[in-house]
Amino acid sequence: MKIKFAILLITIGFFSCSKTEKTILEAKSPNSEVAISFNINNEGRPFYTVQFNNKTVVDTSYLGFEFKDVPSFNKNFIIKSTTASTFNETWQMPWGEQLDVVNHYNELKVELQEKTSPERFLNIVFKVYDDGIGFRYEFPKQARLKGDIFITEEHTEFNLTEDYKTFWIPGDWDIYEHLYNTTKLSEIDALKLANHANLAQTYIPENAVNTPVTMVGSDGTHLSFHEAALVDYSGMTLKVDTENLNLVSNLVGSENTDYKVKRTMPFNTPWRTIQISDNAPDLIESKLIVNLNESNKLDDVSWFKPMKYTGIWWEMHLGKSSWDYGMTQDMSTWTDGGKSNGTHGANTENVKRFIDFSAKNNMGGVLVEGWNTGWEHWIGFEDREGVFDFVTPYPDYDIDEVVRYGKEKGVDIIMHHETSAATETYTKQQDTAYALMQKYGMHTVKSGYVGKILPKGEYHHGQYMVNHYNNAAIKAAKYEVAVNAHEPIKATGLRRTYPNIISREGLRGQEFNAWATDGGNPPEHLPIVAFTRMLSGPIDFTPGIFNIKFDEYKKDNQVNTTIAQQLALYVVIYSPVQMAADLVEHYEANPEPLQFIKDVGVDWETTKVLNGEVGDYVTIARKERGTGNWFVGGITDEKARTVDLTFDFLGENQEYEVVIYKDGENAHWDNNPLDISIEKIEVKKDSKLSVKLAEGGGFAISLKKK
Ligand code: NOJ
Ligand code: CA
Repeated sequence: MKIKFAILLITIGFFSCSKTEKTILEAKSPNSEVAISFNINNEGRPFYTVQFNNKTVVDTSYLGFEFKDVPSFNKNFIIKSTTASTFNETWQMPWGEQLDVVNHYNELKVELQEKTSPERFLNIVFKVYDDGIGFRYEFPKQARLKGDIFITEEHTEFNLTEDYKTFWIPGDWDIYEHLYNTTKLSEIDALKLANHANLAQTYIPENAVNTPVTMVGSDGTHLSFHEAALVDYSGMTLKVDTENLNLVSNLVGSENTDYKVKRTMPFNTPWRTIQISDNAPDLIESKLIVNLNESNKLDDVSWFKPMKYTGIWWEMHLGKSSWDYGMTQDMSTWTDGGKSNGTHGANTENVKRFIDFSAKNNMGGVLVEGWNTGWEHWIGFEDREGVFDFVTPYPDYDIDEVVRYGKEKGVDIIMHHETSAATETYTKQQDTAYALMQKYGMHTVKSGYVGKILPKGEYHHGQYMVNHYNNAAIKAAKYEVAVNAHEPIKATGLRRTYPNIISREGLRGQEFNAWATDGGNPPEHLPIVAFTRMLSGPIDFTPGIFNIKFDEYKKDNQVNTTIAQQLALYVVIYSPVQMAADLVEHYEANPEPLQFIKDVGVDWETTKVLNGEVGDYVTIARKERGTGNWFVGGITDEKARTVDLTFDFLGENQEYEVVIYKDGENAHWDNNPLDISIEKIEVKKDSKLSVKLAEGGGFAISLKKK
């Protein structure tokens, strides 16, 4: 479907004759609102700019590379040729926030060559969409640049024109589990956040941010910077030049090599992306990141079914039970060890209790953490290779019986592989581990990478680990296994190419509320996450905590939202596997709000972001695939507010049975989090509704077709 049309779209001021004259190139989005221009300066340095509604939002930003052993790619280039094309397709997500995705862009490909020896080539490809831009470098096959290339740094700039209000986490090479900071771009100070007490591993070498990083301008321009199709390359952080308001790529490195990326010619880099809109909701509706990825290489993944799930999980984070078979363990220190306490969570009887509960409440799976040997030797051990075993259950976990019982009740067991970041052990065992899953008909694994990466000197977000995570998912697919990675590499839309990459953590999840010593996730956390981390892909946040204060387990910790907000998260935070994270007994004590979790969909035909402001609030409506039922969720930060809803997305002449779950009159995330009001209401396509959200509150609405 690529139509070449060398005439328009790109304005080529001058092409070849005299080398002193300027060459100007431009590409515009299909609706003409987003535009990029490319050029080289008089030293032959390539640069680009970005315009949005005729305003320059990215000014002269240089592009280049430094290599080990060979000269840099940064100047002395001439434009050899350019090609413009347009592309328009609609593809379908096998599961997702929506069924049909429009992928419509105009492309500009620039072929550069060094003016003098060694006269090497570099191509830069820009794709301009209505919702933003993506560009990448292509290192084409050539005689004077062959074999292995060692990149010591990539110099991609994003030179901003305003001191934006910026929502950021530090450019940590090992973890994304930081709270978001809201500051002016010029006030970013990531180094201040080094060595946070609650992180299992952390390394912040520069004043840099991780992506997606989202910015809001004085005229309402919204920008979010990220990357797409991160394959065989290092994750990119963005170093902040606070004086010049410039972001510059800073790739994650390794202590073991004097380069950051090793590739064999020819190759392409990941896409560098900017999502652009004049309002916050459009950022969430943007499909730029998945569109920049290659189409599905796995074809049929119907063996993976989106589902809600429960699990042997929160009880360990609360300290009610343990992962290991024979010792006590405290998540907040990770160092306790020794005695047997008889509280092993993953025992046959307990898992069956969760299976029964899931079967009764329309939940397709039960996650079982702590089922396998190795946990007692993990904590505090430097040498974690060879410790975990992914096929041997503890003596009190009868895996045959649990799987059999689950099948009888229509509930899948979700496998858990905590690798403890001992990557060589995991890589060696993957075949047997995934084969075991296949034997039992288990199609979903949650993997984990807590701790410093082994081999020593590697970081979670460097090229070594990018390849580890991607290879694990590709291998898992061969065994019909879908992967939900914790302590993962960031999502970059690869779920389009490998739709068995279903979800991941990659943020400060619910678990921090159980044990963080800094007060847990504040009410503004998720209203920021929805416009930052969530732009990259599905999140295994694990919502649905009903026992908000859990004083009987931990006096000093709590969830910092109302119970109504916990319900809203099933709609607001997207994932094809959505946990009902609380304990069976806490749900059984609250059957009325549980009804929403029982009813809510998990796989969507359409998503509409009804309103929102980054860091303040957001309301999302989603239509379930198959049933045509709609679900609406809204959340707010620490401020109470009223949101006005219209329902024009509903079907014409269709009647719905509608229930609203909203904050009670006196609800408040801290003083009164359990105050919830549940009512049947009348709603039609032309209805209007004002909903009051409490401080740290939210609401959820189910609209089931009559
Ligand atoms: C950290 C994960 O995020 C959490 O969900 C899991 O329970 C623990 N690691 C243990 O694997
Ligand atoms: Ca984690």
